[in-house]
Amino acid sequence: EEKVSVGLLGLGVVGSGVIHLIEDHQEKLAHQLGCKVEVDKVLVRNIEKARNIDVDQSLLTTNPDDVLENPNIDLVIEVMGGIDHTKEYILKAFSNKKHVVSANKDLVAVHGPELQAAAVKNNCDFYYEASVAGGIPILRGINEGLSSDHIQKIMGIVNGTTNYILTKMDEEGVSYEDALADAQQLGFAEADPTSDVEGLDAARKMAILGRLAFSTPVDLQDVEVEGIHGIELKDLRYAAQLGYTMKLIGFANFFDHELEVSVEPTLLAKNHPLASVKNEYNAVYVYGEAVGETMFYGPGAGSLPTATAILSDVIAAIKAMRLGVSGKQLNDMQFPKTLRPKEK
Ligand code: HSE
Repeated sequence: EEKVSVGLLGLGVVGSGVIHLIEDHQEKLAHQLGCKVEVDKVLVRNIEKARNIDVDQSLLTTNPDDVLENPNIDLVIEVMGGIDHTKEYILKAFSNKKHVVSANKDLVAVHGPELQAAAVKNNCDFYYEASVAGGIPILRGINEGLSSDHIQKIMGIVNGTTNYILTKMDEEGVSYEDALADAQQLGFAEADPTSDVEGLDAARKMAILGRLAFSTPVDLQDVEVEGIHGIELKDLRYAAQLGYTMKLIGFANFFDHELEVSVEPTLLAKNHPLASVKNEYNAVYVYGEAVGETMFYGPGAGSLPTATAILSDVIAAIKAMRLGVSGKQLNDMQFPKTLRPKEK
């Protein structure tokens, strides 16, 4: 029986979800691909560590080359996080002709174009659906679903922690500190929640979305960011009295011949589609010239939702391999000027 072997870098919350789904959805994968998908090796920091998933110990290794130099492995799934040495691992995977699927928003926001160029150079594919808004297929929504349209505007609730905090403050009068502590307890806040509450996590995701939707490079330094740490209960009460709700919104807009990306606490009229997005849920509102209003809604984090996005990338990568078109597909981080939106 034919099979494709994959290697994992990392076995945290998301990595465990990936292992679980590969086993649990084996039939679905076989139906999509006509072959089995098998995990061959998993890079971890500590082999002995107690885990909430049952993994064959012989799959675990602390040596990255057991994955990156492994001749059996065709595809590497990066779920370890981090930027600099993770980037080196991914570059090494490409130079060894392995395709890479990554969930790493921090890395893709900063080094995405360079990594994709390295992939193409090696006839490999680089996929990163899970890096933005977890289980919501928003990159495919933009790259495929809306590929025929001129996108004019994106507004996103792309950070679950801050949306959860604002919802709890607004609806239950919970203090900022208590709501943040809950979000940490529930496991979707970053280990250090500063990047959540100060808007940087959302800025990274908006940089990725803006780049793809407008075929334009986005430098993270140019994204204007304001977080929610200054918001008080009374701000939310005043807003409610006036018929508004406060959300941390990421914007990507074409303005004066330039793409402007920003993240800021924003008053939304209660009837705006994004106003009904509550708790840790994410949503991305996309306005296209021909299609009009669309909105993509769903879980922006979590083990199985994020693993779903990763496995869809794995399916896409294996289909491309089998068709012999790896590295020859749409290079969504090359930016031909002619593709940019028409000026109004
Ligand atoms: N800390 C992130 C959030 C996790 O709250 O949305 C998903 O990227």
